[in-house]
Parts: sequence; structure tokens; C-alpha cells
Amino acid sequence: MPALPRARGPMSETLIRHLRRSGELRPPGEVADPRTDDDLQLALYVAYELHYGGFVDVADELEWSPEVISFRRALEERFEQRLRRDVRVEPGPDDRPMVDQLRDVVRGGGPPTLQQHMARQATLAEFQEFALHRSAYHLKEADPFTWLIPRIAGRPKAALVEIQADEYGGGNPAWMHSRLFADLMRHLGLDPDVGPPLDALPGTTLAVVNLLSMFGLHRRLRGECAGALAVFEMTSCIPNRRYGDGMRRLGFDERATRFFDEHVEADAVHEAVAATDLAGSLAADDPSRTEAILFGAHALVATDDVASGAIVEAWRRGATSLLMASAELAASS
Ligand SMILES: [Fe+2]
Ligand SMILES: [Fe+2]
Repeated sequence: MPALPRARGPMSETLIRHLRRSGELRPPGEVADPRTDDDLQLALYVAYELHYGGFVDVADELEWSPEVISFRRALEERFEQRLRRDVRVEPGPDDRPMVDQLRDVVRGGGPPTLQQHMARQATLAEFQEFALHRSAYHLKEADPFTWLIPRIAGRPKAALVEIQADEYGGGNPAWMHSRLFADLMRHLGLDPDVGPPLDALPGTTLAVVNLLSMFGLHRRLRGECAGALAVFEMTSCIPNRRYGDGMRRLGFDERATRFFDEHVEADAVHEAVAATDLAGSLAADDPSRTEAILFGAHALVATDDVASGAIVEAWRRGATSLLMASAELAASS
């Protein structure tokens, strides 16, 4: 189990001190852009992590501390309000099948620059950085969507459980996607056992996982959660094939690319189950939720575009996409 990260601003500082039981929680202030702010997104990630694997230096009881929950709510409100302001469901919902409307959302996303970079020219060091960014989600892959299971019923629920069963290895822990990702990290010379390198991950990267946790942990956001999962599955096959191609270009064999190869295969099925049986049936059962499903899809595409864009932009400048150089990172772990 990882330890608490270092604070990087007033929000993460007051939360981390409080979780160490060495200070009162001060209400968070305002930030220029809650969608990308390094300090806000780290504080939110830490607050959510109490509902997942937690931290070795935080008491389990603090998961439901009313002070921590109300602090988290204040962060979530800032994040969600900014998303609702910036991310538009345009064009609005129509009468076409949900899968077609979701395809439009995917098509409206930014260019696949990161995927193409990974396939064609990424170096080993860039693959390592890429895996470190992605470890914030993939080391607990599928967990944020599991919160949705008790919040829905009938056909959408059965579809979600079908997807999640695969994500969790279909009864075989060696095939759990989070385990396959940990194996990938080892092949890249990284240590998955220390958890994601939170000290090095920018707010743009943490925001993607925080968005999913927020959708998963609020029953009122169940439509948004289903839309995000559908887009997640619909944008998996081609990128994962490209990531695998990039690894093969660098000389890695099929043991190293298993995580990517498995997603090319599994998500060809998950895509249809998530878009039609989960999101489509949810909209058919309750048409008033259609807009929420599309908002969740748009919000994930927009948040992921920002995160991926920031990584490629840093590399183009010849800089690291992490907040710390990897040498510093290795020395601190
Ligand atoms: Fe997966
Ligand atoms: Fe999947």
C-alpha cells in the first residue's frame, strides 16, 4: 500500500496534514482552473483514494470522516461546475440509437496524437513516463465503474457486470487487467508495488481518474458514469493496438505487450456491451437520463484530450511530462 504523497499547494497540504492527524482541515480556496489545477486534483485524488486501497499512513476510519467528506465535496463542486461550464452536449440528444450518438462524441475528440506518437516514435523513456501516467487508473483498473453496479438495475446492470467480470480476470487473478498492467510496468523496468507516483503526476492526468471516481461515487451521476464507461471501451481497441505496436517496435515481445493485446481483443466486445446494452438500455429505461450519458461521454473525452495533449506537448519541448524528472523520482521512492 502506498504512502501519502507530498503536498504541492494549500489544498493538498491541509488535507494531507489532517489525514496524518496533525492539523485542522481548512476549507479549500478558489483556483483558476479546477479541471487542471495540480493542487486541487492531487487533493481530490487523495480524498478519493480513501475509498479504494487507501494509504499506509492513513487510518481506515478516516474514509468516512465528515470533515474529509465535506472537504472532498467542496473540491468536487469546483471540478464539476467547471466541467458543466466548459463541456457542452452539442448537438443535443436525438432519436438515433445511443451507440451512434456516442460515436459522434468520440469523433468530436481531439486528434490521436499521443497514440500515433507512441506507435511511431516514442522512446523507452517516453513509454515509461506514459505507463506512470496511466498507472493512476490502470493499477486499479475498472474499480471506479464498480460503484455503478448497485446504482442501476436490469439489463444495464447485467451488461456492466459482464464487462467488470472480464476486467477482473473472469475468476483468474493473473488475467485481472490491473495485474496485466502491473506486469507491463515490470517489463518497462518500473515498480508497480509502490503504486502510482503521485508526486510526479500532473493535475491533468489525475483529473481523468478523479472524473471517473466522481461519476462512480455519486448515484445522481449514474448516467454520466455509464456514458464515460461506454466511451472508455469505445476508444480502447485502436489506441491499444498502437501502444502494442510501439512496444514491438522497441523490441518487446508478447509477454510485455499482453496488457495492450488483451484490450484490443476484450474491448472489441466491451465496446458493444457498454454502448448498447449498458448506456443504450439505461437511456431506453429512462430517456431523461440521455443527456447525462452524453455529458459523461463528452466530459471524459475532453478531460482525456487535455491530459494526452499535455504529455505530447511536454515531449515536443524536449521536457519530461511528469512533475519530477525520473531520476528524482527513483531517488524519492
Ligand atoms: Fe480493461
Ligand atoms: Fe474493457
